[in-house]
Amino acid sequence: MFEQVPDRIRTEIPSAPKLSDETFVLLRDFIYSKTGIYFPEKKKYLIEGRLGKRLQLLNISQFEHYLQLLKYGQQRETEFESLCNIVTINETSFFRNEAQMNAFQQKLACEILSKKNYGSRILRIWSAACSSGEEPYTLAMLCLEHLKPRFPDLHVEIIGTDINTAVIEMARAAEYSHYAIRSLPELYVKKYFDNTNGIYRLRAEVKELVRFEYKNLINHQTMRQMTHFDFIFCSNVLIYFDQQAKIQVIGDLYDSLNRGGYLFIGSSEMLHRITNAFKLVSFPKTTVYKKE
Ligand SMILES: C[S@@+](CC[C@H](N)C(=O)[O-])C[C@H]1O[C@@H](n2cnc3c(N)ncnc32)[C@H](O)[C@@H]1O
Repeated sequence: MFEQVPDRIRTEIPSAPKLSDETFVLLRDFIYSKTGIYFPEKKKYLIEGRLGKRLQLLNISQFEHYLQLLKYGQQRETEFESLCNIVTINETSFFRNEAQMNAFQQKLACEILSKKNYGSRILRIWSAACSSGEEPYTLAMLCLEHLKPRFPDLHVEIIGTDINTAVIEMARAAEYSHYAIRSLPELYVKKYFDNTNGIYRLRAEVKELVRFEYKNLINHQTMRQMTHFDFIFCSNVLIYFDQQAKIQVIGDLYDSLNRGGYLFIGSSEMLHRITNAFKLVSFPKTTVYKKE
């Protein structure tokens, strides 16, 4: 026979909260104003599903109350961090855009470094919206593999930034699954990773070229602190922004570049109708944007 559970200790599993169209618009506008990420109506299900779980965890029954917490709650800053960790899409991989990496490694990095004087060859690279670190670490491995032998005095500084603190922690840990290294050429796996029981740990010589920071691309103040970069990779994040946010972010990235520096964006992204400040430089299967 089952024991009878007294009413006072019987826990109810709260049902998933419903998101009305009006509150979706308010929540969507809040997220947009703070991050530049714009959720169209067809993505309402995503907000309702993902954030609904967060509400259940916090024991909040209505999205309206959650919005109040985000705007005016004592914990609004930490809740904003959780919100970003929940709503961002962090898909990435090593060597995600091979054509770009070839243009960087075979031509553009050498062009930039040849113009710097021997003894002061510092290459500054920013991977903006780097997710769990695959892009900046790909660049670090390329520098070690191809640029260091050619420029022995080279000093590489790579900064990876993102708005999602959970992926930044993953990037700092630099431990990857077999699935995560699927697109890496064997040479790089053997030379730059230690494999223990299926966990691939990046070696110190790669890790030490990259540091990670929290940075919100839509925050003009923090963007202004990012200066003197030879290369900026800002891939597969503009797609989540609307036109106005794209114009703001691209304008700030332009200011962050050195003259003669290059901006790389995702293969499905374009700067058409956003800016004409850059010179377009074509490579096989990719276009790169130069600040002249
Ligand atoms: C799809 S991933 C792209 C990762 C990598 N750049 C690549 O191309 O593989 C998009 C990343 O942009 C970040 N992101 C979204 N909005 C951002 C913002 N306002 N500031 C900084 N990072 C942001 C997300 O957290 C996510 O990790």
